Amino acid sequence: MSEKILDGLYYVGARDAERRLFDELIPLPDGTTYNAYYVKGEDKAALIDTVDPEKTEVLNHNLDQLGIKKLDYVIANHAEQDHSGSLPAMLERFPQAKVVTNKKCKGMLKDLLRLNEEDFFTIEDGQELSLGQRTLQFINAPWVHWPETMFTYLKEDKVLFPCDFLGAHFCSDPLYVEDKETLYSSAKRYYGQIMMPFANLARKHLKTIADMDIELIAPSHGPLYKDKRFILDAYREWTSDQPKNEAVLAYVSMHGSTKKMADHLQQKLSEQGIKVKAFNLTDLDLGQLAMALVDAATVVLATPTVLAGPHPAAVYAAYLLKALRPKTKYVSLIGSYGWGGKTVEIISELVSTLKAEIIDPVLVKGLAGNADYALIDQLAESIAQKHREGPCV
Ligand code: FEO
Repeated sequence: MSEKILDGLYYVGARDAERRLFDELIPLPDGTTYNAYYVKGEDKAALIDTVDPEKTEVLNHNLDQLGIKKLDYVIANHAEQDHSGSLPAMLERFPQAKVVTNKKCKGMLKDLLRLNEEDFFTIEDGQELSLGQRTLQFINAPWVHWPETMFTYLKEDKVLFPCDFLGAHFCSDPLYVEDKETLYSSAKRYYGQIMMPFANLARKHLKTIADMDIELIAPSHGPLYKDKRFILDAYREWTSDQPKNEAVLAYVSMHGSTKKMADHLQQKLSEQGIKVKAFNLTDLDLGQLAMALVDAATVVLATPTVLAGPHPAAVYAAYLLKALRPKTKYVSLIGSYGWGGKTVEIISELVSTLKAEIIDPVLVKGLAGNADYALIDQLAESIAQKHREGPCV
């Protein structure tokens, strides 16, 4: 269903309440939306982004509802197919329309969708495009979340279309969600999974947006924001380099020995005043882990040794840690082994690209005894001391 935002500006995107996985990786407990916007000036009309190819029919239906017979431009803020996948269908329906995007995005769209050079109108960073009494301005914003991404700004109406940036995988009927708590949580989950690896660039783009005159932020996933401070303040906190006095304890245990160590560490860290978020890696919600990683000063992986190395679930967690690049300052490892292996070496290598200090691991042969628990107590004290010195907020 198309929905009016302003005179001449309509939501024409698609809701996908049933989708439960994105990129075959990211859980979507609240579904998602692929937001697309139709904007009409006195002379020209443009579509800002399209929708996932699975939802092309919905986009076509929404344009039909508005009686759209002509389209001059399709703005491609991002080449990823959840926004670009319906471009071929739009070019087929509106053969006179040009895809407006930057040079890098054009190259990616040619590769991904086999579009042709003549399909494009290529713009530079900061360039404006008049629709007649309405102006679109394009702002390159690389790495939120691919290298070609850009924002589109509807100048006269002060509407920013930042594509993936500031979005949320949250499917709701109204375009504007008043429940700030729910929206905050969903946007944080999205940030942790998608934007956190690019926190430095996100900070830079936040500054750009903060200096702009904006009355409405219309991202490409989830609800729109009338109050830009809500989402910008949240992003400032999430992208800040200062962690909280929190620890993520991600564990997997085969016969209970490692779990006993993890439980003991959790108790000792809690006694030290550290908020511990524990995750069983065999029943992991990646989104919950990513949200916890947005804040945590310390991550401890707890794994048994199996097949001469860490449990594969712990390898997956370590790989996620490396890929998501959280602000984590300290990493450690605990676990039980039977007769040896290279658990410490393998995990250390996986997390070596993080700017985190590795605190001495505690690996125990078999079931932990009193001397081993004393080492875990020391580990908890060491983590608490580092959090105090950090300092954490
Ligand atoms: Fe929503 Fe990077 O695509």
